Amino acid sequence: MPDANAPKINKGLDGIYVSESKICKVDGLNGKLYYRGYPIDDIAANCSFEEASYLILHGTLPNRGQLDEFSKSLSAERDLPTLVVDVIEDTASEKDPMHVLMSAVSLLPAFDEEADDAGEDANLRKSIRIISKMSSIVAAIGRYRNEGEEYVPPDKSLDHVENFMYMLNGKKPTKQEYDIMRIMFLLQLEHSSNASTFSAMVTGSSLSDIYSAVTSAIGTLKGPLHGEADEMALKMIEAIGNPDNTEKYIEDALAGKQRIMGFGHRIYKTYDPRAKILKKYLLELQEHSAEDVRKLTEIALRAEKMMIDKLGASHGIWPNVDFFAGPLYTAAGIQIDLFTPIFAASRATGWCAHLLEYWKENKLIRPLEYYTGPLDLKYLPIGERQ
Ligand code: ACO
Repeated sequence: MPDANAPKINKGLDGIYVSESKICKVDGLNGKLYYRGYPIDDIAANCSFEEASYLILHGTLPNRGQLDEFSKSLSAERDLPTLVVDVIEDTASEKDPMHVLMSAVSLLPAFDEEADDAGEDANLRKSIRIISKMSSIVAAIGRYRNEGEEYVPPDKSLDHVENFMYMLNGKKPTKQEYDIMRIMFLLQLEHSSNASTFSAMVTGSSLSDIYSAVTSAIGTLKGPLHGEADEMALKMIEAIGNPDNTEKYIEDALAGKQRIMGFGHRIYKTYDPRAKILKKYLLELQEHSAEDVRKLTEIALRAEKMMIDKLGASHGIWPNVDFFAGPLYTAAGIQIDLFTPIFAASRATGWCAHLLEYWKENKLIRPLEYYTGPLDLKYLPIGERQ
């Protein structure tokens, strides 16, 4: 019998506002995204990682002096405690990189004298530490996953993205590799109250510490419905193998009720503006790309057309930020299971900014659930149970 008292339940908190924020506006109907009021196209075209990270954390674009100081404080925090490097060395070759990342980040407070200082200034310093060290951790994971590769200590004279690529490859990136990674870091920096950011806020709302909140967020980002979709999307493109197989593959997958990774979004019911930027950039790269990247791109474009024809306007399922990421990362020489850890290293800025903002007017996040089980059952001693 239907329950007349049942409240309206918004599964997945779909359509529910949980807080006010001045950090990021996602306009899902018009396909627009703003970081602190600046359109994402301008950010992608003009900003360094340091500038955008400062903007998200502080709310305004830095002037020259502020940018220099912020860049210096980020680069000063790149070193990792020896124990963290040892854990990565012991685990990275066999374990899921996201598990290794989560474990490594959860160790950081053990080496931070300010770990339990909940003051605003200390939390800002810890944010910078986390943003900086997470990139070093991901680079170290990337090294130790490959036999014979050792940890490469940071080069503090390089900028954030350049240093990440240097620590990952043991050499500075080419201009093309740098440009791709700058765009990837920028477009994944922040995205309002998405699942992983909300996860960080839930943990933070109990007045737990920033390291615990970021560790929660990493665990949430790991799921294929969220951050891991970039890896799954490239695996699908690789599985299609030959461009001429694309349409049949997608047709069969949809007939089998499979989700096509890299498409669909809770908020965007039109083309994700980040995916538009990535697609444009991928197309611009084509004539300078290797054969494998050109083939991945051709498959991706045919899959995109097929999905838009079938589910775009009719169901509001369009490419999201994860779809074109794979071919671009491949062009930058990034191995597939580092995609989500890199996403995490970039999104660390957004997670920390939301925590700093939420803590200004903190309230414990504790939603309701509507109980539909039985009541007043009689306790039976174990010997009397069937
Ligand atoms: N392929 C095929 N069908 C899809 C897809 C997809 N990618 N996405 C949604 N649908 C269908 C669902 O099967 C469902 O159909 P039904 O009503 O017939 O059961 C309907 O659309 C609604 O799906 P929900 O999951 O309820 O919608 P929601 O708004 O929660 O979806 C989500 C958002 C989870 C991202 C979904 O689109 C999806 O699973 N996409 C694939 C994974 C992905 O790319 N995730 C990355 C998102 S961006 C990010 O997190 C960085």
